[in-house]
Amino acid sequence: MGIFIDEKNKIFTLHTNNSTYQMKADQYGFLLHLYYGRRTQGCMDYLLHFADRGFSGNPYDVGADRTYSMDVLPQELPSLGTGDYRSPAVIIKNADGSYSGDFRFRDARVIEGKYALPGFPAVYADKNEAQTLEIDLEDPVTHVQVTLLYGVLPKLDIITRSARIHNGGTERVWLEKAQAACIDWTGGEYDVMYFYGRHAMERHVQRTPVTHGAQVIGSRRGTSSHQYNPMMIIADREATEDAGSCYAMSFVYSGSFKAEVEKDQFNQTRALIGLSDEQFSYPVEADGDFYIPETILTYSRCGLSRLSQNLHACIRTHICRGKYRDCIRPVLLNSWEASYFDFNAQSLCALAKKAAEVGIEMLVMDDGWFGRRDDDNSGLGDWRVNEKKLGMSLGSLIEKINGMGLKFGIWFEPEAVNEDSDLYRMHPDWALSIPGRNPVRARNQLILDLSRPEVVDDVFEQVCLVLDQGNIEYVKWDLNRSLSDCYSRSTKDQGKVQYDYVRGVYDLLERLVQKYPDILFEGCSGGGGRFDAGMLYYTPQIWCSDNTDAVDRVHIQYGTSFGYPASTVGSHVSAVPNHQTGRTTPFAARGITAMAGTFGYELDPNKLSDEEKQQMRDQIADYKKYAPLIQNGLYYRLTDPSVREVGAWEFIDEDAAEVLVSAMMLNMHGNMTVNYVRLKGLEEGAMYRDTKSQKVYAAEALMESGILLPIELGEYQAYQMHFVKEQ
Ligand code: GLA
Repeated sequence: MGIFIDEKNKIFTLHTNNSTYQMKADQYGFLLHLYYGRRTQGCMDYLLHFADRGFSGNPYDVGADRTYSMDVLPQELPSLGTGDYRSPAVIIKNADGSYSGDFRFRDARVIEGKYALPGFPAVYADKNEAQTLEIDLEDPVTHVQVTLLYGVLPKLDIITRSARIHNGGTERVWLEKAQAACIDWTGGEYDVMYFYGRHAMERHVQRTPVTHGAQVIGSRRGTSSHQYNPMMIIADREATEDAGSCYAMSFVYSGSFKAEVEKDQFNQTRALIGLSDEQFSYPVEADGDFYIPETILTYSRCGLSRLSQNLHACIRTHICRGKYRDCIRPVLLNSWEASYFDFNAQSLCALAKKAAEVGIEMLVMDDGWFGRRDDDNSGLGDWRVNEKKLGMSLGSLIEKINGMGLKFGIWFEPEAVNEDSDLYRMHPDWALSIPGRNPVRARNQLILDLSRPEVVDDVFEQVCLVLDQGNIEYVKWDLNRSLSDCYSRSTKDQGKVQYDYVRGVYDLLERLVQKYPDILFEGCSGGGGRFDAGMLYYTPQIWCSDNTDAVDRVHIQYGTSFGYPASTVGSHVSAVPNHQTGRTTPFAARGITAMAGTFGYELDPNKLSDEEKQQMRDQIADYKKYAPLIQNGLYYRLTDPSVREVGAWEFIDEDAAEVLVSAMMLNMHGNMTVNYVRLKGLEEGAMYRDTKSQKVYAAEALMESGILLPIELGEYQAYQMHFVKEQ
């Protein structure tokens, strides 16, 4: 299928439908990277260059050959200690205190199907959809072995990379750095794209040339973070949405990470992504194993749209799991912006009654229903229903909501604890904190030490006790602070704690999704603070941002779309003036923006006018009509909202038979300019009918000149245009 081994020359070639990745174990056993790019045949070792380079040392076993240096050669697993002074993928500290890992080829094998990673999220596939290449490397002195794992999914144009490290020696070693993937380009001029932001303003796009001097992003927050997403794109300088070569590296992990890219002294580029090496020093015992979480790689030679579509398909169908993976998600009403902490069963029922009238399908009771929790200063950790506040049991409330024809969902923040909680009073040592120091508080809360299995067990039991009280069909899984004071009472090796914490979170989530396969889990971390492919393995959607302002959402969702499909993007219509920005946008603009994700509301329908309620009904009906296309269609960015006066995007089905174009005016001026939006991906030669106006347009014209947006007065006018291909 996709993997070819040339045993004689030790050339390993991975083919997907449109890309080829090649490496070679050379005469010294170094695993050199030869090529990653458009699909091709043959051996690319002619790309290697050998020259005597000053101050680039030579491995001892190459003898007098001064032209052979790891400082220059492209590699699969650059390691500190071999004479490569660029950024390494792995750093190993040995029992004798030395920092050295010299990994040489031992063996390779192809396995049908895609490897899995014990305890970690990873791309999954049927046996006939994927193959795995395992390449064993070993340090001849310490006998530490690294097995590189390559998953190849030809149809999806996806290659994954991960590694198992096995300590085959007799003494403990420490892993000080562990990057999941490394790509070395022997030439080329590239740009790097990062997705940066902050709470309530996540995933803005930064595109800069790759230069001398490392460009490094990452998170040291213990979560993947609002500030930088664990995904980066390396693109040819000329690459655009529609043309040019580009590569994506998406780390399937939800904790601290590091992504690096640098042009070296000879203008070669190296990109790495993997675990953060700060506060990281992981002991691997003799005979012990360590898994580096996985990175998804994809390549497109037709620009960024295709690159994103590759990631979308992979995440939507080979990362997201469970019953809801392929289901249209229920339209929900979340109580947060409707009533914050101020609710009881009666007010929730009032919300539900109105919600049912306009066609909403689920009510979500957000923060405030448990322990002593009337504001965000207390109660986290005590997952016991506050029946006094609610005025009834959870079971009765759910029955009432179900009785109105709505599903019921609930909010949790199981990883955090308030000092003012029974749990903390009982187990103060369960919170991450350093003995003798006061911990850093954030939102007046601490983090539970989920690196400890007994803490995971306790939280699991508490959550189950709630979920068993009635017909709960949705859980919002939140975390509202970054980790700090990463010290666990359970170990002397504090360099393990962050990694083990993430493993604990995954264990907890895995147990819950297995036990409650019918519950729809939505991830959240103050909105999009943990929006990564790792979480999406457990929660097929994530609340994209705490910012529900439609204009800001156009930007946030634009950036998010580079790495993640619309089916994963939690997006709701909220009240105006918007609670985060104070901005007032039309109802239509809010609806159209929220329809670029899993649709819902975050407001009190009792406060809406009759006209707005009618708009809501219409919006929900529209969403229902378009939902399959939004969930499964190909996604195109039609404009860059940071440079155009209009934000526009498109969903089109695989056969190019149905198209939904959404657009929102972001600026309004006197004597307003005209704005045409060009469609993408239509079938050439076909005619497309606008299902509202019934006008028929030629595909080429729609793609070449576009469609004119009406010139209308008023801020933030938004439009949705639906076309079908004429038979
Ligand atoms: C976070 C979430 C919000 C809401 C609050 C509740 O900020 O992102 O949607 O659930 O917590 O405290």
